[in-house]
Amino acid sequence: MRIYVTENYQEMSRQAANILSAQIILKPDCVLGLATGSSPIGTYDQLVEWYKKGDLDFSEVKTVNLDEYRGLTRDNDQSYYYFMHHHLFDRVNIDLDNTNVPDGMEPDSDKECARYEELIRSMGGVDIQLLGIGHNGHIGFNEPDAAFARTTHCVDLTESTIEANKRFFASADDVPRQAYTMGIGTIMKAKKILLIASGEDKAEILAKAFYGPITPEVPASILQLHDDVTLVADKAAMSKMPK
Ligand code: F6R
Repeated sequence: MRIYVTENYQEMSRQAANILSAQIILKPDCVLGLATGSSPIGTYDQLVEWYKKGDLDFSEVKTVNLDEYRGLTRDNDQSYYYFMHHHLFDRVNIDLDNTNVPDGMEPDSDKECARYEELIRSMGGVDIQLLGIGHNGHIGFNEPDAAFARTTHCVDLTESTIEANKRFFASADDVPRQAYTMGIGTIMKAKKILLIASGEDKAEILAKAFYGPITPEVPASILQLHDDVTLVADKAAMSKMPK
């Protein structure tokens, strides 16, 4: 595992954007696995800036997002579809036909999850998967559980995730209770993983995920078994890592 420790969120974002742009430059038709949440917003802003300067070309890039709330329409500003358009897709020259987010409005969860899994496979797999980490160690919406989920599936969100995400909704009652997410197995198949973390509130879980036991109770801990992981985290998030 490579670890980059940065001064703050802004530097973390710049470093993560550097790694993603290296991927795009080396393989212009690469498949990027993308995430939502507060962690990657700065990374997307930086990519957009470099695109505007003429240093990056997204015309052949393909994307697959990790997850989507079940039951939110695409025009709902809390849907991950909306998030991705707002923060990245509508700001660069990506072909929207090459962007993919699970369809949260497909009521048949088995059908949607199988379609998404097959889609990723048919694209040749993910070249680099960008991840944030939840306070309970979740990646995508893979919540702590008794076993690691293999493929894209429908999950019930935990109270801790509903609590963490309610800041984006009018109230906790408005947070959807379910989501479609790539499985741990899907994420582990990515050729490279890039996990970003910022802030002291992520310090404890980051240490557990990377230096604690590998257990489905801390879903991100499985990344210890992936052979191409890059962690980019700011000093505050790194503050509880073993010396
Ligand atoms: C988002 C996702 C989540 C977030 C995680 C951290 O697509 O899959 O696992 O990465 O909840 O969220 P932030 O970055 O808001 O702290």
